Amino acid sequence: MTDAAAAALMDRIYRRQRHVYDITRKHYLLGRDRLIEGLAPPSGGRVLEIGCGTARNLIAAAHAWPQAKFYGLDISAEMLATAHSRIAAAGHAERICLARADASDFDPALLFGVPSFSRIFLSYSLSMMPDWKGALRQALLWLAPGGELHIIDFGRQERLPILFRAGLRRWLAAFHVTPRDGLEGHLRSLPVEVVKFDRPYRGYAQHAVLLRVFRP
Ligand SMILES: C[S@@+](CC[C@H](N)C(=O)[O-])C[C@H]1O[C@@H](n2cnc3c(N)ncnc32)[C@H](O)[C@@H]1O
Repeated sequence: MTDAAAAALMDRIYRRQRHVYDITRKHYLLGRDRLIEGLAPPSGGRVLEIGCGTARNLIAAAHAWPQAKFYGLDISAEMLATAHSRIAAAGHAERICLARADASDFDPALLFGVPSFSRIFLSYSLSMMPDWKGALRQALLWLAPGGELHIIDFGRQERLPILFRAGLRRWLAAFHVTPRDGLEGHLRSLPVEVVKFDRPYRGYAQHAVLLRVFRP
């Protein structure tokens, strides 16, 4: 799928949904606040969310970590319009910068005028990105040495009742969401340290923390 086609699809999905997104996703995008608590960026550090949607996470992270500077990118101009107004309403326009870009091909120097990030996170967005491995490659490329990549997304739901799992998968597919069942194996094949990988909420979600090891 081309960048333009992917952007058009996300804009179509979110054109109306963005107005009710935060309220409707509150109860089923589980583990997002846990990820934000674990970010612990260094003082003055830069934190990027890839696929930031309405900026719900960026605003919460900016509250939680007042010493850091935040950046968000998303392919959907519709989602970014909501993100801009939420950030302004929360009084964080000085601390959170946004840009429209495809997760699998972006350059932070061009988007934000910065070279790299000490934390990057992806929250329920890999499951909507056709080239999710490319998005991970990009994230690792722009992580400073010693930086961390945090991920939360739908898991395999392996410890949930089989009928619930089948229904959930069908429902997610209707929204162009595909849980990345191969995520753990793929992360372990990358040249990074997998500091943490767990499957909370009976496998409903998967949560990872990766460290870009510093090699002098
Ligand atoms: C389910 S929403 C998650 C939003 C937010 N991260 C959260 O936790 O509430 C997925 C987001 O990923 C974005 N997205 C999908 N494909 C993308 C891509 N190739 N590049 C950048 N963003 C993308 C969508 O536009 C959407 O805003």
